Amino acid sequence: MKFNTKTIHGGQHNVDPAYGSVMPPIYQTTTYSQTTPGGHKGFEYSRSANPTRTALENSLASIENGKFGLAFGSGLAAIDAVLKLFKPGDEIISTNDLYGGSYRLFTKIFEGLGLKFHFVGMKDSGKIEEFINDNTKMIWVETPTNPMMNIIDIEAVSKISKKHKLLLAVDNTFATAYLQRPLDLGADIVMHSATKYLGGHSDVVMGSLVVNDQELADKLYFIQNASGAICGPMDSFLVLRGIKTLHIRMQRHCENGEKIARFLKNHPKVGKVYWPGFEDHPNHDIAKKQMSGFGGMISFTTLENTLESAVKIVENLKVFTLAESLGGVESLAGHPASMTHASIPVEEREKTGVVDSLIRLSVGIEDDEDLIEDLKQALG
Ligand SMILES: Cc1ncc(COP(=O)(O)O)c(C=O)c1O
Repeated sequence: MKFNTKTIHGGQHNVDPAYGSVMPPIYQTTTYSQTTPGGHKGFEYSRSANPTRTALENSLASIENGKFGLAFGSGLAAIDAVLKLFKPGDEIISTNDLYGGSYRLFTKIFEGLGLKFHFVGMKDSGKIEEFINDNTKMIWVETPTNPMMNIIDIEAVSKISKKHKLLLAVDNTFATAYLQRPLDLGADIVMHSATKYLGGHSDVVMGSLVVNDQELADKLYFIQNASGAICGPMDSFLVLRGIKTLHIRMQRHCENGEKIARFLKNHPKVGKVYWPGFEDHPNHDIAKKQMSGFGGMISFTTLENTLESAVKIVENLKVFTLAESLGGVESLAGHPASMTHASIPVEEREKTGVVDSLIRLSVGIEDDEDLIEDLKQALG
């Protein structure tokens, strides 16, 4: 199957055996009857597995070109499950520009439990090797990064991870499987905040993992069941429904994203614009190589470069909503320094470019003229 067909049919070969419903039923049940102890139809208790969640997990695996999918109650719950693969003393090398909540989970929870993290700028993947030692177990990559849109060469990092027998995990939230498939580029784990483009309608919080290796999948399924951070059947249904239109939504997000990025670049009150489609964006050639489009996420600073100027713009927006999160059909604007990335210490955050005047846009799929008009009036 090709990608667009997979979003609709991937992993969904079992038509509902009860009544032949075309869409997967929402199995809103915790438990399943058994004819004799152990005599069940593959489902015993919904923390371990639920048919609606299984349908979603199969879809997730299919679109990422992986074998095994796992769905969790949030993106952070999915990352939490990955980190539970490790033991005190193990070391992880992570990109230094990443979602603030991932950084908080790494430093405020897992560092306290004995894991050691190195935060490294990965624009030049060669830097990573300097931090590898006998305790290193995993490289954590986010690309494009949130919110600076830095691009990391997944294939080059995977060569390093394979050479040193490390796991490579990629947070694919911004690009989605529509634009980039990390497992095909050599990653071992692909992670999503499914809350974003996969759900696509800003109505579900969810996370996912997809892997190819059976042993790794078994370990992660064990953690998913043992720790229990699963998502419910209704939410599974909603994300499965979201995935069925992922390709057409992403296509429009990319088209609108490009128009808005170019509009901002030419606006006299705008400072820097971060969008991987610009030829002068760092690692643009790598973005071109590993992504089939540049997405709908854009960050920019004001020329004035002050907190006040950024706050004024986000307060004035009318079609864009000032809100956390991204990846929904509607356009959102965020102020990373005070919102999504407030949990990163100011010195760390400014080092990576998350200055007080930075505004992050999640460009939705409305008419691009309306979005541009809105930005025009807000910029003044
Ligand atoms: C890139 C990225 N990774 C992970 C997460 C965490 O996902 P969730 O909010 O679903 O827990 C987010 C949330 O914004 C994100 O943007």
